[in-house]
Amino acid sequence: MTENLSLLEKAALLTGKSVWETHDLPRHGVRSLWLADGPHGVRKQVGSADHLGLNASEPATCFPTAAAVANSWDVQLAERVGAALGAEAAAQDVDVLLGPGLNIKRSPLGGRSFEYFSEDPLLAGTMAAGYVRGIQSRGVAACPKHYAANSQELRRMVSDSVVDERTLREIYLTAFGIVVTEAAPRTVMSAYNLVNGVYANESRFLLTDVLREEWGFDGAVVTDWGGSNDVVAGVAAGSNLEMPAAGLDSARQLVRAVQEGRLAEADLDARVAELLRVVRDARVPGTAPAVDADAHHALAREVAARSAVLLKNDDAVLPLAPGARVAVIGDFARTPRYQGSGSSAVNPTRLDSVLDVIGDSGLKTTAFAAGFRRDGTPDAALRDEAVEAARDADVALLFLGLDEIAESEGLDRSTLSLHAAQVEVLHAVAAANPATVVVLSGGGVVEMPWLPSARAVVHGYLAGQAGAGGLLDVLTGAVNPSGHLAETVPVTLADTPTADAFPATGRTAEYREGLYVGYRYYTTAGVPVTFPFGYGLSYTTFAHSALAATADAATVTVTNTGDVAGADVVQVYVRRLTPGVHRPDRTLAGFARVELAPGQSATVTVPLGDAAFRHWDTATGAWQVAQGTYEVLAGAHVDDLPLAVPVEVTGTVPARVDDVPERYRTGDVRRVPDADFAALLGRRLPPSTWSGPLTANDALGRMAEARSPLARLAYRVLAWRRDAADRKGAPDLNTLFLLNMPFRAIGKMTNGMVSAEMVDGIVRIVNGRFFSGAGATARAFARNRRANRASARALRGDA
Ligand code: BGC
Repeated sequence: MTENLSLLEKAALLTGKSVWETHDLPRHGVRSLWLADGPHGVRKQVGSADHLGLNASEPATCFPTAAAVANSWDVQLAERVGAALGAEAAAQDVDVLLGPGLNIKRSPLGGRSFEYFSEDPLLAGTMAAGYVRGIQSRGVAACPKHYAANSQELRRMVSDSVVDERTLREIYLTAFGIVVTEAAPRTVMSAYNLVNGVYANESRFLLTDVLREEWGFDGAVVTDWGGSNDVVAGVAAGSNLEMPAAGLDSARQLVRAVQEGRLAEADLDARVAELLRVVRDARVPGTAPAVDADAHHALAREVAARSAVLLKNDDAVLPLAPGARVAVIGDFARTPRYQGSGSSAVNPTRLDSVLDVIGDSGLKTTAFAAGFRRDGTPDAALRDEAVEAARDADVALLFLGLDEIAESEGLDRSTLSLHAAQVEVLHAVAAANPATVVVLSGGGVVEMPWLPSARAVVHGYLAGQAGAGGLLDVLTGAVNPSGHLAETVPVTLADTPTADAFPATGRTAEYREGLYVGYRYYTTAGVPVTFPFGYGLSYTTFAHSALAATADAATVTVTNTGDVAGADVVQVYVRRLTPGVHRPDRTLAGFARVELAPGQSATVTVPLGDAAFRHWDTATGAWQVAQGTYEVLAGAHVDDLPLAVPVEVTGTVPARVDDVPERYRTGDVRRVPDADFAALLGRRLPPSTWSGPLTANDALGRMAEARSPLARLAYRVLAWRRDAADRKGAPDLNTLFLLNMPFRAIGKMTNGMVSAEMVDGIVRIVNGRFFSGAGATARAFARNRRANRASARALRGDA
């Protein structure tokens, strides 16, 4: 097919036509693809387009976000959500759905944690694979993102993730490996950041060696929006589509590179062929069945209920009996926090609040009190009203959570605490009515020093448009909770392995903690937590027994020992007993969800896949299993594994003790000195600060230190806009994006108005060379306009 296309036509196919579309070539019967976010609902913009979730999009079901659904540990449920997303995308003629997001939660402060599944790669990858299978079952291409090591929002487009080879493989690539090999996504999105000095989108290692050659990916790699640095380097490395629209400047750069011998035409042809396969496999527009919005709303409710995690339930205060007299307290009961802001934001078909739907729950509401101001401003009158409301009820239902500014795309969290005003209301309400139940909304975990004041706690995460009903189903016992945490709840932020380093503020983000992410850290280093990974209660109880294991599978008998039906998640972990390469104390090796009637038992087989025993062997540059004795452990969560059996593993290599600083054996990774991290990395640390004048690859935020007073003024205006929005309680995503965006992205995001050459002129101005920069920019502007017209004529075929 590529043989009939001109060089310019081929090049044009590899760069976006608009914010959401690829180029079509009508003369060759090639149509445009429509791409749209996102991970928990379709965001198709038919009017003004933006990639930040600012302008309106077509209504679509807003499902619970990935951070919520991950708690279900239910791959079939993930697949059903995926299928519903795919059906909605198909009905809106969206060809590529930009999700799921499966980056590893390196720190609970990550601003996009709500969009991601877990701190564990097996859980994240397996759940994401469910989504992808579901989405693609409706003829829509999924686009798992953001590949790879995209762990922080601050300076996300210019930050360089410095990660040792083993950690990169075992923690940050594994989830993508699972999704690609198990679910064959037709596209993958490359991340904004650099990985070990190379932009993810220009990394031959990531895009070709690993993604295509090791995992067998045969689809198209799409850049994140504005994430292309050098389109030629991207195509050479294995990237297929630069988004959104760099105009035809990028296409001309590709043409020139081929003509000048800097890019092999065979590489260009290969990328075009891979992309054309996605076009070929896209469904015929206008042929998808209409969506039953009510059915999808009901599914969203079911998912919310099955994803909620019951963290505490003293004296079995829950479930609430029919007719229980409840005081509903908290602003989140009236105005739900049900999704996050940024590119994933969906315009929901409906939105239920607790106040809207509690009437159908069988509970009797005695009063509602807002209790606190959402932005955290103390308000004694609201608090007192809440106390009054609580006094007179059987149970006080207190809806607490993270507000809109606390977490967002483009913005990492600065704290893990709830607003002090909310905690104060909790203490006051609990003093008035000890039967106080806290229901949390938020995309991640919070510190819970207030736990003793709550008799029960349910964490609903960001539960989607029908979350209120789903949470009430859990509170009343209409649904027996079966959610289990997909991430650890640490006691304090200071206990997290990256507490001193996240988010990185310099040029590099050094992953000094190595393999010790999430529970891998807490269990190895012996750091106590509030709620461990995998934790979650039910209204019934389960007993685990009769563990048997081989190197391939574990079997466990689970018995429902309570008196209501419920679902358990059997979790199997592996520990190595004999000496070998450094390795966390426990790693999740497999899991299975099982539904049981009261008194019923089932013997569950959990296959132990690749993740169980292998490690990335830096000596051979390959996955290996070291010969030795391992222990297979099973139980209710990572800190409750009463069953253990030893397993002799023949392995693929003899055991070898690696030469790493001792702290990487004990997990003492909170403050790793330079020398130790360099030893783990196997090379000198790259510079973490900037020096010299600004370049096209510096974030606009660096204009604070620019030579040009004009640039410094521009920085102050942006910073003022950011701060003003923060004060109002809603992040200004546009401004945040600009501050974190490098200059080169101006060229990539302005639909051809600004060329790479113009960006160089602009950077000269910023560096204080106003006249030469302005002259160069103006000349480049004129050249770019002429070139754009000529390329457009050539593409139309009337050159
Ligand atoms: C986000 C992606 C998203 C894209 C398009 C980017 O800013 O990082 O996750 O798919 O925008 O909206």
